[in-house]
Amino acid sequence: MSTDPLVVFTPSGKRGHFPTGTPILTAARQLGVDLDSVCGGRGICSKCQITPGLGDFAKHGVSVAPDALSEWNSVEERYKSKRGLIEGRRLGCQATVQGDVVIDVPPESQVHKQVVRKRAEARDITVNPSTKLCYVEVQEPDMHEPSGDLERLVRAIEAEWGITNIHADLHILNVMQPILRKGEWKVTVAVHLGDEENPPRIMHIWPGYYDGTVYGIAVDLGSTTIAGHLCDLISGEVVASSGIMNPQIRFGEDLMSRVSYGMMNTGGAQEMTQAVREGMNALITQVASEGQIDKQLIVDAVFVCNPVMHHLFLGIDPFELGQAPFALATSNAMRLRADDLHLGIHPSARVYLLPCIAGHVGADAAAVALSEAPDKSEDLVLVVDVGTNAEILLGNREKVLACSSPTGPAFEGAQITAGQRAAPGAIERVEIDPTTKEPRFRIIGVDAWSDEDGFTEAAAASGITGICGSGIIEAIAEMRMAGLLDPSGLIGSAAQTGTDRCILDGRTHSYVLHDGTEHDGPLITITNPDIRAIQMAKAALYSGARLLMDKFGVESVDRVVLAGAFGAHISPKHAMVLGMIPDAPLDKVTSAGNAAGTGARIALLNRDARGEIEETVRRIHKIETAIEPRFQEHFVNASAIPNAVEPFPILNSIVTLPQVSFNTGGDEKGGRRRRRRG
Ligand code: FES
Repeated sequence: MSTDPLVVFTPSGKRGHFPTGTPILTAARQLGVDLDSVCGGRGICSKCQITPGLGDFAKHGVSVAPDALSEWNSVEERYKSKRGLIEGRRLGCQATVQGDVVIDVPPESQVHKQVVRKRAEARDITVNPSTKLCYVEVQEPDMHEPSGDLERLVRAIEAEWGITNIHADLHILNVMQPILRKGEWKVTVAVHLGDEENPPRIMHIWPGYYDGTVYGIAVDLGSTTIAGHLCDLISGEVVASSGIMNPQIRFGEDLMSRVSYGMMNTGGAQEMTQAVREGMNALITQVASEGQIDKQLIVDAVFVCNPVMHHLFLGIDPFELGQAPFALATSNAMRLRADDLHLGIHPSARVYLLPCIAGHVGADAAAVALSEAPDKSEDLVLVVDVGTNAEILLGNREKVLACSSPTGPAFEGAQITAGQRAAPGAIERVEIDPTTKEPRFRIIGVDAWSDEDGFTEAAAASGITGICGSGIIEAIAEMRMAGLLDPSGLIGSAAQTGTDRCILDGRTHSYVLHDGTEHDGPLITITNPDIRAIQMAKAALYSGARLLMDKFGVESVDRVVLAGAFGAHISPKHAMVLGMIPDAPLDKVTSAGNAAGTGARIALLNRDARGEIEETVRRIHKIETAIEPRFQEHFVNASAIPNAVEPFPILNSIVTLPQVSFNTGGDEKGGRRRRRRG
């Protein structure tokens, strides 16, 4: 048994015996303890801070004497007087082992910090970025031993940081020599650690010790919006987030119209590529200015997008994606340089695009899989990313299936008579009294319900302007629960429903949700064409999910995760009444927010996650809904509200849906035609 002092690290619990005089940083490195250092133990960076414990530690079987570490030294004193050091902390590179000791590594001194995610079922993100900051002292040139400055710089990085086969781009050679001399042969370099396709590379160089950080950007490139998160690559924190509309919208609202634009117009695809790249640069400028950083400090970027956006962003004509068999140019992950995509960030910045799953299931779905990890789930989870196209994943540890389903833009408020995007003034929550059939609602930007005190005053600023996606879902589900709507999707007449809010509107009926005409406001109605549009969208979503359940050989799922910005606002109960999602306990239906964006952030902050998702995607089984005969069958059944054949036992135990049928047409005597309500 060793007579050398015992060093125990917490929270890792790693322990080992070390000769007296061993720096704590050295002991940590030898044991593989996660203790940070940028300056390589020179007492400059303070990243190696530790908190030694004193007294008895029965749990570890150690008693720590006051002199278990070397005395406070002048390097620590200098650092403390200049920059400050929390009481009780020491610099791990300066304090040496003198006796048995217990050392706590505080979270900020850990290299692989955890970025804690708020949701209980979501795993935390471990920070392990592709780019590392290394401080080195470089040997000065010597006439007797001629060698280039770069070679000596590379040798110093290899010797101190163990990073081998390092390359440098021309722009580093362009700036390196004066920086080495300005720093008196001490420099800090940002090194990209390399990946499957690329060797490690010097990204940037600063004279002396660089006390700053480097950044990365994680972008969710959607057909409608582009959202970016600027992240500190060292701490893992999001520094700024921003979003813009995708400038490609002018070429077509949905993806297929953009594919056709490319087919119909010579140079159309190139035009769209240029538009999205210009948009991307505008977003980068915006997010960098919000984060108050120099864009040149952005050294890594991760993009997730659907297959059509993926191709257009890369400058590949998406023609093949518009027709069966929907062949992607490549489904592999892409590792590029920012220059390749004309991005205005650091010239050597690396770009990573997650792999696509299939011709209709893109890198955004792969990012959702990375964030929600269905492949690691013990129970069977259905993950639905609701957008213009719904991307659906179903799986557990055993296997994961994926498909996409064309839901169209109805869920985003498009094709809906009073529909609008989610903005102040839009109705987002609806309740309808099943007895009086009277509605109450809430609008975005106002906390009170429409029948509560203070609502009118609070709503005056924005007005009541329309109804957004989550509002239309609640309105239709509430209409179904209140007996205003039958399972086939027909709205009853005033006589059939007993409320004059049901008005004749052409050959069908509409339900008046809000009449603001008295004050020159809008008449907000839910019309039968609105119901049809939502029926089509929800049937597409449900049948995709049901098809995956067929393929999995199950009749139910354990839990449902709603991803996407819209998914965050859907009420699980209303989604189920509508038959959008399979029957499941309501507390097992959760929202994941922008899971694709989170997946992009994970891939940005953790280099190992990139290989992990590439492996997962290879194992995901893709189902092409277009060629599955049962999809059509499910679609027809799912057009009913909630469903023509599925029993929905859990839903039925919570709500009783009225057995109504308005097929026979209504008696209009008690009703009224669509008109201004006075
Ligand atoms: S390692 Fe940099 S101060 Fe200790």
